[in-house]
Amino acid sequence: MKGRDLLYNEAQAPWPRTYLFDHPLIQHKLTLIRDKRTSSKEFRELVQEITMLMVYEATRDLPLEETVVETPIAHAHAHILAGKKLAFVPILRAGLGMVAGALQLIPNARVGHVGFYRDPHSLQPVEYYCKLPQDIAERDAFLLDPMLATGGSASAAVALLKEKGARTIRTLHLIAAPEGLHKLLNDHEDISVYVAAVDQRLNEHGYIVPGLGDAGDRLFGTK
Ligand code: PRP
Ligand code: URA
Repeated sequence: MKGRDLLYNEAQAPWPRTYLFDHPLIQHKLTLIRDKRTSSKEFRELVQEITMLMVYEATRDLPLEETVVETPIAHAHAHILAGKKLAFVPILRAGLGMVAGALQLIPNARVGHVGFYRDPHSLQPVEYYCKLPQDIAERDAFLLDPMLATGGSASAAVALLKEKGARTIRTLHLIAAPEGLHKLLNDHEDISVYVAAVDQRLNEHGYIVPGLGDAGDRLFGTK
């Protein structure tokens, strides 16, 4: 049943450069992680599964090259990935929950880490860590963070990736608030954004409504 506190996914809102997932598996799993009764263990597993499904779609345009492989029967003309260099970059902490799912699909990708926390009063992002692959300038970056709330953290992380020279940047989020999506897209006109849901709004504390609560705390059981 759809209620007022649920999403308007089906509207396929007209966000530019944004891919809004409507796959039933993703929507189902997303509902489970919204549920406050879901344990940290299940939450982690589901975030991993949803991320894997999102990365599957977000890498749809990876280039292929032709090859020949010998099957037990004959030679087959086939395709392999054209060796494009990728980097997954989680925003600490909550983005860490998305790394395993991404690596399950692309195990040879490098992983960079950027740390931002939201100042609880100003809601402004504060950078506290950055460790990226040395050759980030030769890589296509996938920024991972489950929550796009005000958009401050993701926008600052994209700016950091640009400063470090990442070749292209895509961002993946489980849930976005319209405010955060607007900010991210307005601040950065050269990125693509992948979101599983766009919720209603932010509350007075900068939390997404209805959202799923504090993603970091739910992943790591810290509250
Ligand atoms: C959460 C979340 C995002 C950020 C989103 O992190 O994981 O990084 O808030 O909010 P924004 O769009 O308004 O910037 P948080 O600051 O709570 O840190 P944590 O992941 O360490 O818990
Ligand atoms: N960070 C979260 O983890 N959840 C929100 O709703 C907003 C920011």
